[in-house]
Amino acid sequence: MKVYNFSAGPSMLPEEAKLEAQKDFLDYKGSGMSVTEMSHRSKWFDEIHNEALADLRDLMKIDDSYYVLFVQGGASQQFEAVPLNLLTEKNGKKADYIVTGNFANKAYKEAQKYGDIACLASSKEATYTYIPDVDKLEYRANTDYVHITTNNTIFGTHYTKFPKVNNLVCDMSSNILGEAIDVNRFQLIYAGAQKNIAPAGLTVVIVKKDLVDNGEPLPFCPTMLKYKTQADNNSLYNTPPCFSIYMAGLVFKWLKKFGGVEAIQKQNVYKAGLLYDFIDNSSLYKNNVNKADRSIMNVPFVTGDPDLDAKFVKEATANGLVSLKGHRLVGGMRASIYNAMPVEGVKTLIEFMKKFEMENK
Ligand SMILES: Cc1ncc(COP(=O)(O)O)c(C=O)c1O
Repeated sequence: MKVYNFSAGPSMLPEEAKLEAQKDFLDYKGSGMSVTEMSHRSKWFDEIHNEALADLRDLMKIDDSYYVLFVQGGASQQFEAVPLNLLTEKNGKKADYIVTGNFANKAYKEAQKYGDIACLASSKEATYTYIPDVDKLEYRANTDYVHITTNNTIFGTHYTKFPKVNNLVCDMSSNILGEAIDVNRFQLIYAGAQKNIAPAGLTVVIVKKDLVDNGEPLPFCPTMLKYKTQADNNSLYNTPPCFSIYMAGLVFKWLKKFGGVEAIQKQNVYKAGLLYDFIDNSSLYKNNVNKADRSIMNVPFVTGDPDLDAKFVKEATANGLVSLKGHRLVGGMRASIYNAMPVEGVKTLIEFMKKFEMENK
């Protein structure tokens, strides 16, 4: 049965990329091997790897002052890699965090092990239903970095403006390539690939070369977590997640063909608009997020009755609309509508929601 998969991650991938992978699976371009079994030092993989790096640079308009690294360990590993690489003795190992969700809080907690880490603002008191006004915060002087989470996957919020500081670091796991973001506003961006890029296993790090080449990671920073280790070896210091990188490359090609990030952003805004408009005009469903901060990637909603929510999820699943159960911290439902979710998928979900509302008045 064909389903629409609304999972928050790992998430659906573009049909075209999957078909291409299927075609190549047993014999990649006459090599007689699958990408899953070839050496990461082979000429075939070398091409896959470098093309994926170049296409990501192209899509995000990343200039030569940044390294693009393909690493492992997920975004969660970056919660520690960031402070381990960027905190400096010179600045008293100081960093500011804005806590807008569960993952932002985890990043903040991990960093606390390594330095003088401040939480500048948190929206926890309102169950993370809004983004604090970044223009009103008191950023400390001489910090090594300021950390934000650009899209909050569980709570369905995103930043529409960024702190005006020159040492911004962000976790962009759930909206990378989903909306056009000026990379130059950041000194470091990291993202787990399993939402808008590829199957799980790959983590993307985009980091200012200067920070890496002239940086001094904390003395106990593991070799594998040092950005310099990866940068000096074009991310091939050890065996990389070859198949995820290959899939990422196919997804990048698909996105370029689609028209790039600006074009998909337009579609994402349209999809999210359809869903929010429907929810706002319904008497059964509610989205509790501050309207100005609503994510275009993750749309949580509730009926207000946990039993009815459970019924919704069950019936939706039976109708081929899967992985709509909300995160345990929020309850209700969540529709993750990343780049690969077609407009038709969102329209089908809305039709189902209408029918369910009629039947459960
Ligand atoms: C915004 C955000 N940050 C971090 C993570 C954790 O990522 P990983 O599972 O790659 O460690 C997630 C996972 O969903 C996420 O949505």
